[in-house]
Amino acid sequence: MKVLYLEASPRGERSASTAVTEAFLAALLDAAPQVEVERVKLFEAPIPEFRAPAAEAKYKAMGAGADLTDAETASWRQVIGAVEQLKSADWLVISSPMWNYSIPYRLKQWIDVVVQPGLTFGVDESGTYKGLVAGKKTVLVLSRGGQYRQGDDPNDFQRPYLEKVLGMMGLTDVRTVLVQPMLAQGPERAAQALEQAKKEAAELAQEMARE
Ligand SMILES: Cc1cc2nc3c(=O)[nH]c(=O)nc-3n(C[C@H](O)[C@H](O)[C@H](O)COP(=O)(O)O)c2cc1C
Repeated sequence: MKVLYLEASPRGERSASTAVTEAFLAALLDAAPQVEVERVKLFEAPIPEFRAPAAEAKYKAMGAGADLTDAETASWRQVIGAVEQLKSADWLVISSPMWNYSIPYRLKQWIDVVVQPGLTFGVDESGTYKGLVAGKKTVLVLSRGGQYRQGDDPNDFQRPYLEKVLGMMGLTDVRTVLVQPMLAQGPERAAQALEQAKKEAAELAQEMARE
């Protein structure tokens, strides 16, 4: 059983989202020792570039299926590699800080690489999208400096965005742990919220390991 863990904060040991995810993974490994974690530090690991040849390959995949040039083939191979890494996992765990109401650019880059027609989503004749990456347990650990309402906060472009793109790939059963407010209400409140989120994450891992 493999967990693909994407770590989207560059802050290492100082990161709140990473610390909470570590609590999640520790509890998961405790409950299910056979689990293998592939950890990808998105600010350190190479993520394929998505430039003109990759974009053209994507348009060709969506359209008439014209032959790819050599440069497009090379770019698309890298895309396929990233998609295979995603598909090989039974679990997807993403930790991310909120950056400018949304997500850090390295996580966005990963999304732009893996969300692809024919690979992670399909479109049928009626124009309906169908996810091709179903059946993964999916967890988001999202930290924020401020305090955002659950579910319907008009300033939260982080959680709804991630849920939208994951859903497009077929990952519709997403469990989320919020780590907030990490700045807006002072260090004491932040420390309390961090401990609460770690506890919530560990309980979620135990619950999900049983499912
Ligand atoms: C570049 C940058 C942009 C940020 N933008 C926001 C924001 O829009 N809203 C917010 O509530 N906090 C924002 N923050 C604060 C972080 O979301 C907060 O400190 C979070 O706990 C960081 O998570 P981490 O410790 O896992 O990196 C921002 C921080 C940085 C570095």
